[in-house]
Amino acid sequence: MTTRTHDGSAGDVDYGTIGSGYSAYRRPDGRIARFIARALGDSRTVLNVGAGAGSYENVGGAVTAVEPSASMRAQRPDGLQPAVDAVAENLPFADGSFDASMTLFSVHQWSDVEAGLREMRRVTSGPVVILTCDPTAVRDFWLYEYAPAVLDTEALRYPPLDEIADALGGTVQVEAVPIPFDCTDGFNEAYYGRPELLLDPAARQACSAWSFVDDATREHFDRTLRRDLASGAWDERFGHLRTRPTYEGSLVVVRGAPAG
Ligand SMILES: C[S@@+](CC[C@H](N)C(=O)[O-])C[C@H]1O[C@@H](n2cnc3c(N)ncnc32)[C@H](O)[C@@H]1O
Repeated sequence: MTTRTHDGSAGDVDYGTIGSGYSAYRRPDGRIARFIARALGDSRTVLNVGAGAGSYENVGGAVTAVEPSASMRAQRPDGLQPAVDAVAENLPFADGSFDASMTLFSVHQWSDVEAGLREMRRVTSGPVVILTCDPTAVRDFWLYEYAPAVLDTEALRYPPLDEIADALGGTVQVEAVPIPFDCTDGFNEAYYGRPELLLDPAARQACSAWSFVDDATREHFDRTLRRDLASGAWDERFGHLRTRPTYEGSLVVVRGAPAG
């Protein structure tokens, strides 16, 4: 059973506590949006599960959003439809209600990923699109040198891609999503070539993994990264990333087409 906090949050974090600055730091990125749009195809109706503040809802057809956290629902801009207060694991829609469905940066928070994805498959006649991270790749990032506990947490939270594929059934394709240098959606890898920006505590708070680590981990990160930026040690090892237009990290789009 999915338990929910006072805010309604249903995942492994309470957006009533950490969600207030989300939409300022997690602005949808147009280049990532194109990958999502391509995976959705020309679907006329799209379900967005774990919709948060409504990022990427302009990618295709008419969107129905599902979002359990009141704090996140309150950040949806005027002009978007209000989100339905529900959880992935129990979607209040009839079988095949939508041409396509998507869930973006959300599956790693669900209490029962298999149940949630089966629900998405049930209510969708066409593709189910998942923007997520490959847990086998999340530690291959410079942040691991400065805050290993953050990426160890992420590696445990993100569902293995073969479990996602099994839950979806049908035909599943996985595509790496190159992250643009000036990515506006501030997940950790978005700062691959701009390490200074991750020194902002509010930028870190917009990435939920940081809420799982203690103050000592955050202080160690801040102190050692500042030291290495000042001394040039970060640039000596990772400075080549400052001129890379895109970065292929752990971000992937998974697209499940129905069987038959
Ligand atoms: C990191 S945010 C992503 C929000 C949005 N999709 C985006 O790309 O900005 C994760 C969202 O998943 C939602 N979530 C967590 N557990 C959920 C569940 N079991 N069912 C539906 N949504 C859930 C959270 O409330 C949160 O809004």
